[in-house]
Amino acid sequence: MLNLKDEQLIRNHSYINGSWHSSESQLEVVNPATGNLVTKVADATPKEAELTVKSAKDALSSWSQKSANERAGLMRNWFNLMMQHQDDLALILTLEQGKPLAEAKGEIAYGASYIEWFAEEGKRLYGDTIPALANDKRIVVIKQPVGVVASITPWNFPNAMIARKAAAALAAGCTFVGRPASQTPLSALAMAELAERAGIPAGVFNIVVSNDAIGVGKVLTQHPDIAKFTFTGSTPVGKRLIEQCATTVKKVSMELGGNAPFIVFDDADIDAAVQGALLSKYRNAGQTCVCTNRIFVQKNVKAEFIQKFTEAVKKLTVGNGLEEGINIGPMISKQAVAGVDELVKQSVAQGANIAIGGSRSEEGECFYQPTILTDVTNDMPVAQNEIFGPVSPIIGFESEQQVISMANDTEFGLAAYFYSRDVGRVWRVAEALDFGMVGVNEGIISNAAAPFGGVKASGNGREGSKYGLEDYTEIKYLCMGGI
Ligand code: SIN
Repeated sequence: MLNLKDEQLIRNHSYINGSWHSSESQLEVVNPATGNLVTKVADATPKEAELTVKSAKDALSSWSQKSANERAGLMRNWFNLMMQHQDDLALILTLEQGKPLAEAKGEIAYGASYIEWFAEEGKRLYGDTIPALANDKRIVVIKQPVGVVASITPWNFPNAMIARKAAAALAAGCTFVGRPASQTPLSALAMAELAERAGIPAGVFNIVVSNDAIGVGKVLTQHPDIAKFTFTGSTPVGKRLIEQCATTVKKVSMELGGNAPFIVFDDADIDAAVQGALLSKYRNAGQTCVCTNRIFVQKNVKAEFIQKFTEAVKKLTVGNGLEEGINIGPMISKQAVAGVDELVKQSVAQGANIAIGGSRSEEGECFYQPTILTDVTNDMPVAQNEIFGPVSPIIGFESEQQVISMANDTEFGLAAYFYSRDVGRVWRVAEALDFGMVGVNEGIISNAAAPFGGVKASGNGREGSKYGLEDYTEIKYLCMGGI
């Protein structure tokens, strides 16, 4: 029906305790590029979410007692299957989310890379021995799986956001319950199908699909059998979920909103900065938390940067992500387009100028033109809010001190980028930016080996890297006496 090589990858039910679970009602998955129905999926209730938690709880002891090697072997099978089915998984992802097929293929490889990386890193979950204060004692530290992990993940990366949470959880010996965004459940369910084929035991990886964000959210944040809750999404929702987790004192990790500055100093390689800005801004039609949100350009290179950047943005092609040569797919919904359009209009009313784009695209209701706004100031709505769309506001600056203070003038602290070839400035600015991740002469920073995460209202905890694995463990101190 959808031209998949393997039709079994389309699954229409939640995956609970190794079986496909039907529910009384169904939700619709719609292709944002066309507005057409892709398929319907069983819409689970909070009661069914509780069942999912039970299944993860029941599977915990046997999974956590497997050796790290055994877990790694099964995860490696899962990684291999994801890569073998990369084309089908990408097609499913583009159909439900809209991003261009080449980008969707990239996301499948990106998501799978977390499974591969954590499978290996799970073997290196080292403890510690600490010199004791008394001769007849020894201090030993071991790391143990935190327990059942629940997650809520967004629609912008329907595969990779689940992969980087679930892979760390499973590698640490935890079991996992994921609730994907109801707009994009199919990628998560296809991952579950492949987890089963890989031999991951029933109950270890569960996916519960539901339109009832509040009801199911309450189960996943308040159920006493869940030890850790992890969320990727907006800051207002993250704050509410943290509050809910407080009732059972769960370990939480939150990957929330961003407002990334992208700074171009006058000693930068301008062509490299243009390429970096293009990638970090227009990836996924600007719908990523680490997307460049404000471009600061030093006064004496501003005209050159704007001219070259505008030329590059002019070449971006907007359209249905399934078609050849498309760079910018649809946004996730008409409401998302309206939000971006409003930010642009408000900023223009306050004095910003449109260098290119600046309005909806004729491709369809969910499309917005790649846009550049010039003469923006840091207090305009487009600079103070997370745009989450293909719009680049450009702000001029005079000095290093001035741009650092403008860049940090946001409640968010996820990603920042800057371009400079002065080694002293590189260190000064990297250290002064209040962000969890800084790309220095680099516009794409995410990968499995690096700690992804933010500070301030952008959240806490890290994903990817050895730090991301540790977030799924508890430290236990053993005091060995009588020696
Ligand atoms: C996100 O938008 O939250 C994730 C982006 C990434 O992994 O690069």
